[in-house]
Amino acid sequence: MTIKDSVVLITGANRGIGKAYVEEFLKAGAKKIYLGVRNPDSVADVVAENPNTLIPLKLDITNAADIKNAAKEAGDVDILINNAGILFFDDLANKDAVDNARKTMEVNFIGPLAMTQAFAPILKNNGGGILIIVSSIVGHVSMPAITTYCASKHAVQSLILNARAQLAAQGTRVIGVYPGPIDTDMAKDLEMDKFPPAQVATETIKAIENGKEDVFTDAFSKVTYAAFRKNPKAVEAQMREAA
Ligand SMILES: NC(=O)c1ccc[n+]([C@@H]2O[C@H](COP(=O)([O-])OP(=O)(O)OC[C@H]3O[C@@H](n4cnc5c(N)ncnc54)[C@H](OP(=O)(O)O)[C@@H]3O)[C@@H](O)[C@H]2O)c1
Repeated sequence: MTIKDSVVLITGANRGIGKAYVEEFLKAGAKKIYLGVRNPDSVADVVAENPNTLIPLKLDITNAADIKNAAKEAGDVDILINNAGILFFDDLANKDAVDNARKTMEVNFIGPLAMTQAFAPILKNNGGGILIIVSSIVGHVSMPAITTYCASKHAVQSLILNARAQLAAQGTRVIGVYPGPIDTDMAKDLEMDKFPPAQVATETIKAIENGKEDVFTDAFSKVTYAAFRKNPKAVEAQMREAA
């Protein structure tokens, strides 16, 4: 499948990695891009620059009515990118960890699950299409400083595998995207070298074109995943020391 002439829906499209997806899919020639955002005013300027291609869509992925409406408005989608997400810095000693876990699971796992349920029939009607879920390298390994976020991304990994198994028969490709630290608002308090958000988008586009299912978008995620595959206990020890 090529990007040219595709119809894409991106959640969390107003900033960070979502905004980069919008820019890179535009460059790659997408026919139409729905910008799923909680506040359509946040994308008014970018939509005004490309009014024939960019369509704002009010979409809080924790709101069932918004999801139902998105499925009604965007019945021509053939690439869905579940990108929106949140992160709290917390460890087990944090008194807010339980509340954080509920909020994080709601956005990072239940949101993409509900979007996948709503759009699976649409992708099927449009020839199968592609479902993309933005996870994280911490969908495979765990970092103690972001306990509840890691748990949500491990749940997302299960969603990716189950969606891939269950949607194969209708011809839907499911791509898991696993970034390392990316230079966005989410990672602003993370003291690590960070990679540009555009790299996540361009690596995803390459994977669409090359038929890849698992996208490790940067040097950190590639090296960490390779180390994990080789010796999971060594990576566990590394993360413990870094905490
Ligand atoms: N940055 C990293 O280092 C990194 C690394 C690995 C994976 N990721 C993943 O990449 C994805 C994007 O992250 P980012 O770094 O771009 O984060 P970000 O800059 O904080 O942006 C988060 C986006 O998600 C949206 N969002 C949050 N809650 C939402 C909800 N309930 N409904 C709809 N949209 C919602 C936000 O919208 P508002 O503007 O309305 O808040 C915003 O557009 C996430 O899934 C994240 O877990 C990020």
